[in-house]
Amino acid sequence: MSKIELANKLNEQFKNSSAQDVIKYFLKEYKGTIALSSSLAAEDQALTDILLKEDKEAKIFTLDTGRLHPETYDVMDATNLKYNIKIDVFFPNENSVQELYQTQGVNGQYESIEKRKNCCGIRKIEPLKRALKGLDIWVTGLRASQSVTRVQMPLVEYDAHFDVIKINPIINWSEEDVWNYIKENKVPYNKLHDKEFPSIGCAPCTRAVKEGEDIRAGRWWWENPEHKECGLHKK
Ligand code: ADX
Ligand code: SF4
Repeated sequence: MSKIELANKLNEQFKNSSAQDVIKYFLKEYKGTIALSSSLAAEDQALTDILLKEDKEAKIFTLDTGRLHPETYDVMDATNLKYNIKIDVFFPNENSVQELYQTQGVNGQYESIEKRKNCCGIRKIEPLKRALKGLDIWVTGLRASQSVTRVQMPLVEYDAHFDVIKINPIINWSEEDVWNYIKENKVPYNKLHDKEFPSIGCAPCTRAVKEGEDIRAGRWWWENPEHKECGLHKK
């Protein structure tokens, strides 16, 4: 069976299952070749708790772009301490970052979509490729209601770009579901969420949202909503 067929089959099998049941099945079935990519935002923190309750040794990694908020490092530290783990960290390639700086300066991302994508490519996509190497299953904290680009995303899908089966166990959760889980389970969370940051990425590309604004309005706020994917989750 091809990876596409397998992903479709698993999606049918689990599309009505709880996040916990999905995680339980995949952690057992793919032990050692499954990992959660965590941005350390609320969704990923809830998933971290679910994963580690199922398997203390579940793999979790983060992409440290070199441009994260101090609050993100604080929650990473708090998470490592609470669960007695060390989240794996993947950094961008040093030479590529130097070249990026030489060609488009410190904050070229504001000047054009092309320059912004160059930065995301070097700081996120290339490290993600390295992180996914050898894995069968990539777990994410994507939710359908986060944006127009995510409404159609299934629970299980084959990601052709990274040649891996991607599972989105909380794809059907609402923002309220995430926060209920975090509070009930006393999960550490990024303090920027208390300062009107519903979605958190790199510091120069994330800002607080105003009342009534979309939850991803503070991400790459100078771009149109349909461009607001950095390439981690494109089709
Ligand atoms: S992004 O593409 O716009 O940056 P978003 O912040 O909504 O993505 O996060 C969606 C999912 O992508 C997260 O739940 C997580 O699985 C993954 N992700 C995003 N940023 C990172 C990161 N820095 N490190 C690891 N995983 C990440
Ligand atoms: Fe660069 Fe901004 Fe993309 Fe982070 S989100 S990698 S700073 S362009």
